[in-house]
Amino acid sequence: MRSCRKVRRGSGCSSQPRTPSNRSIAPLPLSRASASAVGSSPPDTRANARREAIARLREAGIESAVLDADLLLAYVLGIRKEDVYAHPEPVLSADERAGYEGLIARRARGEPVAYLRGWKEFYGLEFAVDPRVLIPRPETELLVDETVRRLAPLDSPLICDLGTGSGAIAIALAVALPRARLIATDSSTAALEVARANASRHEVRERIDFRAGDLLAPIHETLDAVVANLPYLTSAEVDAGGGTSIEFEPRAALDAGADGLAVIRLAIAQLLARPAPTDIALFECGPAQARSAAAELGAAPGVRTDIVADLAGRPRVVVAMRVAARR
Ligand SMILES: C[S@@+](CC[C@H](N)C(=O)[O-])C[C@H]1O[C@@H](n2cnc3c(N)ncnc32)[C@H](O)[C@@H]1O
Repeated sequence: MRSCRKVRRGSGCSSQPRTPSNRSIAPLPLSRASASAVGSSPPDTRANARREAIARLREAGIESAVLDADLLLAYVLGIRKEDVYAHPEPVLSADERAGYEGLIARRARGEPVAYLRGWKEFYGLEFAVDPRVLIPRPETELLVDETVRRLAPLDSPLICDLGTGSGAIAIALAVALPRARLIATDSSTAALEVARANASRHEVRERIDFRAGDLLAPIHETLDAVVANLPYLTSAEVDAGGGTSIEFEPRAALDAGADGLAVIRLAIAQLLARPAPTDIALFECGPAQARSAAAELGAAPGVRTDIVADLAGRPRVVVAMRVAARR
């Protein structure tokens, strides 16, 4: 299981909550603040603001209304979520009220909390995220766990992370495997900007070489391992994703064609065409794609495959050992 989690918040290791003070939050009309000034509404306490926000999010059909209202209030106030409950009485300033209303309005329209706050925790680390990159998902931690477990005995493995997005996987691996060197590729130069900044924040920038390009195309080195969480939704699933976070995430990070395998299949073909074998390759897949991906890899001579299930028992990570060129 995860052995080397370390929460690093913001730039450096401070445990202070992030505040939005240096961010631009579009002010909304101060309806309640103005109303309470003339004494016609309950006071603008944290508790009241929170209650109103929960009601508004529920009305908009947001299932995680309570959690989201709390996270966003804590974010606006620059405090920990627990302190929202511990100290519900303080009255919000007009700016805090406006900032909170603005974020709740955006959340009610479906924008993910991670984009609203500008960060997401993954593998115990904090990653800056914005609409240039996919928001790292908790299920991808299994891919990192499996990679760390299998590569920990190696001295200084060279690992490639395909489709790095925010850099979450490459950076988590660099932190967990301090002697590893990494190459991380993405076809999106905008995503690579985010990933480079995240690597600098976590002080692993000098061990990760970020390269723009199509999957393995920019890599000529012999690799010890390839890891990838590439797009694996079908185009139809992406089209049907309105009202969820995927409506706000880059389509190129999600859409893998009619069967959800288009990008993984391309990566497998590139891997099998490389002149030197790769010791191990690990692909995160959707449960509907895992068996097909394993069969494609296992069809190559001498390649052994395994499928690791996630906590819900669904096939999730396809592992292939000794991936050598097709004959
Ligand atoms: C599902 S996202 C995963 C991002 C990150 N690895 C993570 O787990 O949070 C897939 C990423 O692959 C990138 N991508 C899609 N097709 C690609 C291709 N042909 N070559 C390189 N990167 C690609 C996308 O731009 C996106 O950043």
